[in-house]
Amino acid sequence: MLGLLHLLCALPVLAFPMHLLGREANASDPLTAFNSIPAVLPPLPYTYDALEPIISEDIMRIHHDKHHAAYVANFNVAAHNATVALEQGNVLEVVRLTSALSFNGGGHILHSLFWQNLAPANAFSVSPAAGGVFPSSGRLADQVERDYDNLKRLVSTMQQFGGAVQGSGWVWLVWNRQNHALEVISTQNQNLPSGAQNRTAYLDAIPAVFNWEEGERRLLAELNGDEWW
Ligand SMILES: *[C@@H]1O[C@H](CO)[C@@H](O)[C@H](O)[C@H]1NC(C)=O
Ligand SMILES: *[C@@H]1O[C@H](CO)[C@@H](O)[C@H](O)[C@H]1NC(C)=O
Ligand SMILES: *[C@@H]1O[C@H](CO)[C@@H](O)[C@H](O)[C@H]1NC(C)=O
Repeated sequence: MLGLLHLLCALPVLAFPMHLLGREANASDPLTAFNSIPAVLPPLPYTYDALEPIISEDIMRIHHDKHHAAYVANFNVAAHNATVALEQGNVLEVVRLTSALSFNGGGHILHSLFWQNLAPANAFSVSPAAGGVFPSSGRLADQVERDYDNLKRLVSTMQQFGGAVQGSGWVWLVWNRQNHALEVISTQNQNLPSGAQNRTAYLDAIPAVFNWEEGERRLLAELNGDEWW
């Protein structure tokens, strides 16, 4: 229905949703700025056409200016109403609002992180990070070699998870604290509208704009014990 990005699979995200709510908002930190009420639509960290030809300007405008903006606006209405209902002691209304809060709040959080997960391909002048460029050495490179042998196997694992998602969902690269290893997981999320037109093509193309530098920054923060979100 609406275009390729609806799937929003294949996220180089090193993250732990359970820690989400414990982190305070910091307006100048793009990774925690989402955690404030009222919610605010964050600007893209690059221009709308910066990811072309992998993701078109139109798709970016639809997903940022329309979909993400709608999650933010709808979350704010639900949060306001929930605040009123809590003050009134209206249990039925509070419970009724939880689905709107998680649907729109989830969409807002996931998209806020997703914009940071990508970077223009081979565009050092546009951004300090170059999309699709995997570091040749360092903690992330070492760990990928340990857990997946090589980048190609990691990416193809992420693509397999993405292809297997029913409807819409997300693929995550996470740090497993118990096993001390990188792990690929997927989540199904009704918060995100479906409508991928060619998932295979999207999963083939998207690694070209993965922001691996951002992935490494999050891995180091995680290993350092920093609650980065
Ligand atoms: C907020 O984030 C900025 C940018 O990451 C950082 O420099 C600053 O120290 C943070 N402020 C607080 C209070 O954590
Ligand atoms: C929020 O409250 C307004 C005013 O009572 C109501 O019109 C609106 O439908 C409510 N929205 C949600 C999502 O509950
Ligand atoms: C989807 O993309 C794949 C890989 O790029 C391509 O081989 C296939 O023909 C495309 N399918 C459709 C229906 O466009």
